[in-house]
Amino acid sequence: MKDIVLCNDVIMPDLCFGTGITNIYSTGIKRKAKLAKNKIKVILNKDKKNALMNINLSKIVDVSMQHGCKCFDTSRAYGASELVLGNTLNKYPRESYFLVTKLCNTDQYNGSVREGLENSLKALKIDYVDLYLMHWPVEGRFIDSWKEMEKLYSEGKCKAIGVCNFNIHHLEELKSYATIMPMVNEIECHPLFTQNELREYCNNCGIQIMAYTSTARMDERLRKTCLVPIAQKYNKTLAQIILRWHQQIGNIPIVNSSNIEHMIANLDINDFSLTESEIEQIMGININSRLRYDPDNCDFKQL
Ligand SMILES: NC(=O)c1ccc[n+]([C@@H]2O[C@H](COP(=O)([O-])OP(=O)(O)OC[C@H]3O[C@@H](n4cnc5c(N)ncnc54)[C@H](OP(=O)(O)O)[C@@H]3O)[C@@H](O)[C@H]2O)c1
Repeated sequence: MKDIVLCNDVIMPDLCFGTGITNIYSTGIKRKAKLAKNKIKVILNKDKKNALMNINLSKIVDVSMQHGCKCFDTSRAYGASELVLGNTLNKYPRESYFLVTKLCNTDQYNGSVREGLENSLKALKIDYVDLYLMHWPVEGRFIDSWKEMEKLYSEGKCKAIGVCNFNIHHLEELKSYATIMPMVNEIECHPLFTQNELREYCNNCGIQIMAYTSTARMDERLRKTCLVPIAQKYNKTLAQIILRWHQQIGNIPIVNSSNIEHMIANLDINDFSLTESEIEQIMGININSRLRYDPDNCDFKQL
């Protein structure tokens, strides 16, 4: 994997494994349910579902480390994800992996930014995070939260700080109060929703983009696009082409998978480069189709 240098000189990998739990949870359960269908009727209660999900996540994190993807994206808002990462990565040297976690909205509403990070560090079994992000621009709260994050950064509890889901107007507002501007903005970005204006703004300000829902969750609409012939040309999958496209336009893609084969394939993207024309063609797929929450129109208390 290639190194990306953030504006404060912190080095981070150019691909990140996402541990947002909903997907891992549901796919793991679906698979288990399918297996059980014609045998004994198995009713998975909540505890069993959680245990299954955690084993799955732990396994995939280990495989990810072994295959060279050492960057993990989590949040206080992702259920047991921080705990599972802490338990799994504990056996590796701290410098060998890059951890991104997030300040959740509840801690913003409660004014418990410092406690939020301390709880994350405890769950992750580490004494600093590589990158600490504000999960959402919670209205009326995000400026004060950012000031607290600046303090935590200056104390060395996080090597870099940033935001998620900030649109240009959020960043402009933040600029009026911030001493340190975010090093990263983690946003929804994929071929169906390329966010050109926001990406350009961030690039001009030295804010690194991390792209979430980077494969558009392999939305069916992708199968009717130029991605198909491009994938055939390079003998790669659609997911591989999309991830490479992100890297070539300067994004750090975050990708989630509960399937070890998919996960390994997603890392095998460094043996080819898309041409300028192919990058443009993929840009042309954009239909401004947001698949996740809109930061300008959502209920922050529910996230
Ligand atoms: N900051 C934020 O507000 C925010 C919001 C949302 C997400 N995130 C982060 O971004 C991560 C990823 O987001 P996401 O899950 O929405 O999107 P995603 O990574 O684009 O989509 C995951 C889906 O793609 C499938 N997939 C992955 N690789 C594949 C492959 N090679 N072939 C076929 N299917 C493949 C997975 O299925 P299989 O499991 O079957 O492989 C899964 O259903 C999250 O885990 C989280 O860390 C951050």
